[in-house]
Amino acid sequence: MCGIVGYIGKKNALQIILDGLQRLEYRGYDSAGVSIINDNKELITYKKKGKVSELAENIDINLFAGSVGIGHTRWATHGVPNDVNAHPQFDMDEKIALVHNGIIENYKTLKTMLQNEGYVFRSDTDTEVLTNLINYHYKSKKDLETAVRFALNEVDGTYGIACISSFEPDKIIAARKGSPLMLGIGIEEIIIGSDASAIINHTKNVIYLEDGEMCVLTKHGFQLKTIKDEDIFREIEEIEFDLQEIEKSGYDHFMLKEICEQPETIQNTYRGRINFETGVVKLGGLESIKDKIVNAKRIIITACGTSWHAGLIGEYLIEQMCRIPVEVDYASEFRYRDPVINEGDIMVVISQSGETADTLAALREAKKKGAVTVGLVNVVGSTIAREVDAGTYIHAGPEIGVASSKAFTSQVMSLILLALMIAGEKKTLSDDELKRIANDLKTLPEKIKKCVEAKDDYKFIADELKSASNFLYLGRGLNFPVALEGALKLKEISYIHAEGYPAAEMKHGPIALIDENMPVVIIAPKDKTYDKIISNIEEVKARKGKILAIASEEDNNINDYADFVIRVPKTFNLFAPIINNIPLQFLAYYIATARGCNVDQPRNLAKSVTVE
Ligand code: AGP
Ligand code: GLU
Repeated sequence: MCGIVGYIGKKNALQIILDGLQRLEYRGYDSAGVSIINDNKELITYKKKGKVSELAENIDINLFAGSVGIGHTRWATHGVPNDVNAHPQFDMDEKIALVHNGIIENYKTLKTMLQNEGYVFRSDTDTEVLTNLINYHYKSKKDLETAVRFALNEVDGTYGIACISSFEPDKIIAARKGSPLMLGIGIEEIIIGSDASAIINHTKNVIYLEDGEMCVLTKHGFQLKTIKDEDIFREIEEIEFDLQEIEKSGYDHFMLKEICEQPETIQNTYRGRINFETGVVKLGGLESIKDKIVNAKRIIITACGTSWHAGLIGEYLIEQMCRIPVEVDYASEFRYRDPVINEGDIMVVISQSGETADTLAALREAKKKGAVTVGLVNVVGSTIAREVDAGTYIHAGPEIGVASSKAFTSQVMSLILLALMIAGEKKTLSDDELKRIANDLKTLPEKIKKCVEAKDDYKFIADELKSASNFLYLGRGLNFPVALEGALKLKEISYIHAEGYPAAEMKHGPIALIDENMPVVIIAPKDKTYDKIISNIEEVKARKGKILAIASEEDNNINDYADFVIRVPKTFNLFAPIINNIPLQFLAYYIATARGCNVDQPRNLAKSVTVE
């Protein structure tokens, strides 16, 4: 949830940590802080409610000279965002500073135990318990590593932590259980990061910590162990993306950049995976379990948020194209409802970050119950990517904007590829159909580009609608999840209340909301449902609602019905969710910027939700 950075080496730690925090800020941004071991071997800390930029502007850099340090950008779970609750948290004696991502679930019990021992607490965070628990064990063990190990063995919950102490000023101790953490191995320096964006401008060589592992870092190297004190050897891996991919490259916001990148990111998803002559799809990562997937009795798709919307599209696609029953479940619900998993069931797990706690827990639950698991993940090397039986990366590249855009379209593209792979093997689509689909796919990036180039038209419509307080989004079939996703995007970044519905459901309730102040965004492709959609539009018009129709290029009637029309290029039905989603991303973006919202860091949200 939050961002963690640590540095140990020969350089000035502060600058490296602040720079890393800026890059990690998309993970959490309600407060930020740093602790440094200064040249006199003292532990000094500066932390503040607000953005990393405010921290950087106000910190006295001369005071913070030192080459060992840790930093944090918070997404509060326990205790309001304020200076005291910001991390690093320290122990009662202010000898130990610790940054934490996750939740210590048994913090109340531990706090009472420590209070009975005379420990005093200053913050409302769960994290502070860990600092005093380390202090408690340090008193008897006189060794920081042992004290941290003892403390970690007593806590329940999730954590990624980095900890420094004036007791032993030349080391950092890092550990992970349930929250991502990695080490960037440079020359005579190590950078700790909760993701690669904090590390990439120093080194591409990384070591991913696994759950239940801890690491002691010194200026001379590092030692990786389990929290049970067993030695571990881990190969160094290479980060696959470049620095420029996580920079704004002249765009006002990461989100805008990511929306505009989609002609390329879609190609990156299918490149090398489909034979355009035959339409045959090969997904290398799934080869080892391909037979099991093709012969699946049932496919269960699980995910959260935007990824869940992609999953709903997957349901339509796989059932239509492969004739395999599909169920889609919120990951958070799946794990707690004791779901039935039968032999021959496949679980497909969709996640941009590969770290979402609910999704990861659902994956583990499904594995425990015997399902074969398949991952559709964006972040290479992430926990979900590593824990599934087999997977295929969606290759959208780093997504920094908190509201997902290009990852969604690449998730949908990956599901199309998965459905085509199964359909090709099962012969539920003919060779001719496969070829025609492949042919149409070739033209998809060009069509997305056309949508991107029309962005000024979307901006104009956004300006017209920006003052509404509620929106309704309607779509049918494959476009129903697109309506859900359009509404979520608007809610997330503009704070306007919006709901998505299957168009035909409107008359069963939401129609009561419609009046002259209610814009209704209707996805109205020229397909077999077109006449029904026009009737839905009429129903809205009869109640004075304003209509924005997302319509096909060749639709000559739609202007007779809609107040605003966005035209998108014609595609095969199965690619329609991708094309129709793009104007909705722009619409949300332009409405949010017109209302002065911070689209890259919307309030209360964080990019990867690593707590339950
Ligand atoms: C998307 O705009 C969201 N901020 C959120 O719903 C997200 O899709 C969800 O948290 C799942 O994340 P994941 O894909 O990284 O697992
Ligand atoms: N649970 C901790 C807190 O609320 C850590 C939150 C985070 O992951 O940013 O302070």
